Amino acid sequence: MTTMDTIVSLCKRRGFVFQSSEIYGGIASCWDYGPLGVELKNNVKRVWWRDNVTLRADMVGLDAAILMHPTVWKASGHLDHFTDPMVDCKACRRRFRADKLDEQPWTHYCPATKGNKFEVPAGEPCRHCGARRTLCPECGKGELTAPRQFNLMFKTFMGPVEEDAAVTYLRPETAQGIFVNFDNVLQAMRLKLPFGVAQIGKAFRNEITPGNFIFRTHEFEQMEIEFFVNPADTLDGRPADEVWHERWIEERFAWYPRYGIRREHLRLREHEKEELAHYAKRTADIEYKFPIGWSELEGIANRTDFDLKQHARASGKALTYFDEERKTHVVPYVIEPSAGADRSVLAFLVDAYREEEVRGEKRVVLRFHPDLAPIKIAVLPLLKKRPEIVATARELRARLARRWMSVYDDTAAIGRLYRRQDEVGTPYCVTVDVQTVGDAEKGETGDRKVTIRERDSMEQIRVPIEELSGVFGELFDGAAWRTAAGRYPPAKG
Ligand code: GAP
Repeated sequence: MTTMDTIVSLCKRRGFVFQSSEIYGGIASCWDYGPLGVELKNNVKRVWWRDNVTLRADMVGLDAAILMHPTVWKASGHLDHFTDPMVDCKACRRRFRADKLDEQPWTHYCPATKGNKFEVPAGEPCRHCGARRTLCPECGKGELTAPRQFNLMFKTFMGPVEEDAAVTYLRPETAQGIFVNFDNVLQAMRLKLPFGVAQIGKAFRNEITPGNFIFRTHEFEQMEIEFFVNPADTLDGRPADEVWHERWIEERFAWYPRYGIRREHLRLREHEKEELAHYAKRTADIEYKFPIGWSELEGIANRTDFDLKQHARASGKALTYFDEERKTHVVPYVIEPSAGADRSVLAFLVDAYREEEVRGEKRVVLRFHPDLAPIKIAVLPLLKKRPEIVATARELRARLARRWMSVYDDTAAIGRLYRRQDEVGTPYCVTVDVQTVGDAEKGETGDRKVTIRERDSMEQIRVPIEELSGVFGELFDGAAWRTAAGRYPPAKG
């Protein structure tokens, strides 16, 4: 099982994710995406947008502001309900979510073993004295305060004066930007129900217990869809909102395996009535088997007409849809698939990570889907002392980079260069060698062919330079490696 430490260390070493403000000692639970991380995350967002907006006739996009009118958060219920119960340890002053206290191992000074200190597994009693946790799970000594409700929204001030009238909030979800623009989008795009509005953007939460790398942070990105359905409609004799909810659960569940996540690492979890958000009629989470255990990757909620009605009431503006068939105004119901971009990046990283043995040596490889791989092609010269080889490789990289993220690297021997590209998940390497360019001194002309090496099989084929773009075009359009490789002779490894 891949550990979180392995992923964190790879991410730092290879430029995926760095601790924020590291030179000042870092700031807890804030992370920066490095050169490869930003490519990976952009690719995740790009395929999400392509599949959910570009390819669908019933979806449009939006990019709303992070700062919104403060009344939005009163109307949405976030000011009153977006809270977690919090307790403090009176001894060590650590802070915990009251409802998650028994989900972590706890420190216990056991009276049955003369006060020896033990770590007891989460939710279990001490196997020596049978006691259950009542004190602080971290220090094992302090009493905990009674739970207090803590609002997770970050408060800030707009304008030069820090007064109550200037208070506003960093949005804790992107969704509200869609709800308040419902009528703008409807009128501008002349849409018919059912239709969806998609948005990718930052959200902020003052989490009580952030952590586990990019899994739970204060600042993160969401990829959200608000899919509006006519509540008066039925499909196969059932309420349309319920049928669309199921369709979206299926659609979103199938999305992750399409980009390489193993099916057995995903599961659906239905929310119990008591845990439903204040706006939800039903919610199902897609959970991923993270190194920290099964945890939420995406939530798919039926928010009913709660948000549109709340905003209509608070703003005095009608947020309705005219149902031509029934000649009446209706408030649409909303199905909301809400995914985390950062959590998706983490899941894709964890699932792609493999340690393999190749000819007696350990090979670390990220088996990213080609659409997600930060670097698509690495162009490598076999000998960096031969100017014709270097010039040809550099020129090739420049040509390929117009269509695919490509790099040139000559900082090590070829075997080492391949391993480095494997470790960051580059699906294809192109090697330029003596045969490609020939040897002018000996009067030999080159064959103008290069070697393509595929990451997962490590197979190599010999392809004429003029055919490279065509071959990569096919491969990045989804053709199987075998199909392309079958047309060319193998290269000597
Ligand atoms: N609009 C609905 C909503 O925000 P949510 O379940 O609170 O629902 C949706 O959040 C997704 O956003 C989660 O499934 C998760 O992927 C991501 N997410 C939520 N809080 C996060 C945090 N503190 N850090 C990273 N991702 C987070």
